Amino acid sequence: MTSTTPSLAIIGGGNMGTALIAGLIAGGVLAESIVVVEIDEDKRNEVAKQFGVRTSATIISCGGAIVAVKPQSVVDVCTQLRKVGVQRVVSIAAGISLATLEHALGADIAAIRAMPNTPALVAEGVTGLAAGTSCSDADIEWAESMLAAVGIVVRVSEDQIDAVTAVSGSGPGYLFLIAEALIAAGVAQGLAPDVAEILVKQLFRGSGILLAESPETASTLRERVTSPNGTTAAGLLVLETAQIRQILDQAVAAAAARSREMGA
Ligand SMILES: NC(=O)c1ccc[n+]([C@@H]2O[C@H](COP(=O)([O-])OP(=O)(O)OC[C@H]3O[C@@H](n4cnc5c(N)ncnc54)[C@H](OP(=O)(O)O)[C@@H]3O)[C@@H](O)[C@H]2O)c1
Repeated sequence: MTSTTPSLAIIGGGNMGTALIAGLIAGGVLAESIVVVEIDEDKRNEVAKQFGVRTSATIISCGGAIVAVKPQSVVDVCTQLRKVGVQRVVSIAAGISLATLEHALGADIAAIRAMPNTPALVAEGVTGLAAGTSCSDADIEWAESMLAAVGIVVRVSEDQIDAVTAVSGSGPGYLFLIAEALIAAGVAQGLAPDVAEILVKQLFRGSGILLAESPETASTLRERVTSPNGTTAAGLLVLETAQIRQILDQAVAAAAARSREMGA
């Protein structure tokens, strides 16, 4: 590598790519050490202006790369990364297996597969990360530190990535649906729409922080807010009678099956 070779290339300056740049720079990574490879000129200019990073329309020599393009472009991107002598690659593309990454990169380049989720856009994501066969501990630590810029990272085996995708990858969609329905239900009970929206947004924020920060399980926290014969008990009885647990189980199973199907 020459002295001008960036240590990190982020391939794809879209939603996830820019979330990662923002998180890495906020975490102390120097903008000069990052190059963003983005084919869209407007996005390239925007990223350069917003973050002060180098940009390129084509893949250039780099130490490590985060591949944040759509799944159908990943093999082509990895083939180009191999040609420029990259040493480590983490792909966040849904459905692209480690075997596919390793085939495109070759045996000498460390490949890591990761599945983040959209709260990464506000640095509150959670990522499941699986390491390829040629990864050293240092490669895995590198990948973890990259993804930790936008949330927390959990190491899993690759056969669990479909489950990660179904729970935390698709999970924001389930929660947004519940939020949507709660807002509508509040309006049906006489709340103004803007008031219902404020109540529900803060309900999610507050409950999420409480759940994440409390040493108690979700089950214990639920029991604590449910007085016998009280209002929460009345609401929960409706949800349990409608088999909310089984419905969520089916939703996650369907998402995992779709993830497996897309990977195949
Ligand atoms: N968003 C999520 O919640 C989420 C969660 C987990 C994983 N992922 C994965 O993250 C990846 C990126 O998702 P995203 O939502 O950030 O997509 P996105 O907003 O569409 O960003 C991808 C960017 O990469 C650019 N691009 C495409 N091919 C390229 C190439 N060969 N070289 C350089 N840049 C290229 C695209 O430009 P054009 O628009 O001009 O094509 C676009 O600006 C996907 O593989 C997705 O499966 C996303």
